[in-house]
Amino acid sequence: MAIELQWDIPVPEGLEDLEAFLGRVADACFKTEGIEGAGFAIRIVDDAAIRTLNRQMRNIDSATDVLSFPTVNYPAGRTARRCPKRLAREYDPGMGCVNLGDCVINLGRARSQAEEYGHSLARELGYLTAHSAFHLMGYDHMNEEEKAVMRDMEERALSAVGVTREPEISHDRLFELACEAMQNSYSPYSHFKVGACILTADGRTFKGCNFENASYGATICAERCAASCAIAAGARRFAAIAVVGSTAVAWPCGICRQVLREFSDLSLPVIVGAYGKGYTVKTLGELLPESLSPEDLGVDTNS
Ligand code: THU
Repeated sequence: MAIELQWDIPVPEGLEDLEAFLGRVADACFKTEGIEGAGFAIRIVDDAAIRTLNRQMRNIDSATDVLSFPTVNYPAGRTARRCPKRLAREYDPGMGCVNLGDCVINLGRARSQAEEYGHSLARELGYLTAHSAFHLMGYDHMNEEEKAVMRDMEERALSAVGVTREPEISHDRLFELACEAMQNSYSPYSHFKVGACILTADGRTFKGCNFENASYGATICAERCAASCAIAAGARRFAAIAVVGSTAVAWPCGICRQVLREFSDLSLPVIVGAYGKGYTVKTLGELLPESLSPEDLGVDTNS
């Protein structure tokens, strides 16, 4: 794991799988820079704590969104990839990697910035982590030129993990993606094509379609096909799903509702419709009240 995440405040709902996501962001930053075997610590704090830290460490008496404390002292004009010896000195046996330093993120500020940009909190935390990662690798933004170079590196790393500062995907768009997925349906027995698209809590989308079988019971629904792709890519929390049927509204079957429950709470928006006829939005709670959840069996789906 490229990062060690520490919460100094209670973990907000929906961010339980943040460590894996920020780990992927950090790895993408290292890859963009061209270094391997590095890591850093991320602490998530509140407004007051970051203000205190900013005053103590930098003599600036105000809150900010993120602070970075590199372990390596990079010579002017050099970044991590050109300092292999300095990096090697920071090998931390406890972490099992080169410790680049500490990143401290203000959750309150991340939340208000996420609102301002119209995207998820996880996505904003991904942004702040990438920004900090490049500081920890020797980048800065003291002048316009430096700033442009740093922004470019951040964008390259973030787009590699599918994180952009674009507004969160709309219901219309998710439904459109489900319609695209429907085109690949393999349904020679029912001739009912179904497409689905899952939006994960970290902002990624995964498409699926139904695929049938000569042994009818071996058929896989579009929703479980999309869920399989999401899980295999490391996602564990779903933020929304769209499902479309070719000739009728594709209400998710009972098994699919239960599968969605494993990775979502009952507020999950389920966007269901028929091709060319629009959609309606229900919550998973409306489709599956009184459901059995992993928590009921003492299981944390994030670990
Ligand atoms: N189907 C889905 O893909 N999702 C559902 O939740 C309902 C049913 C598919 C399975 C089968 O290929 C076809 O629709 C007819 O049942």
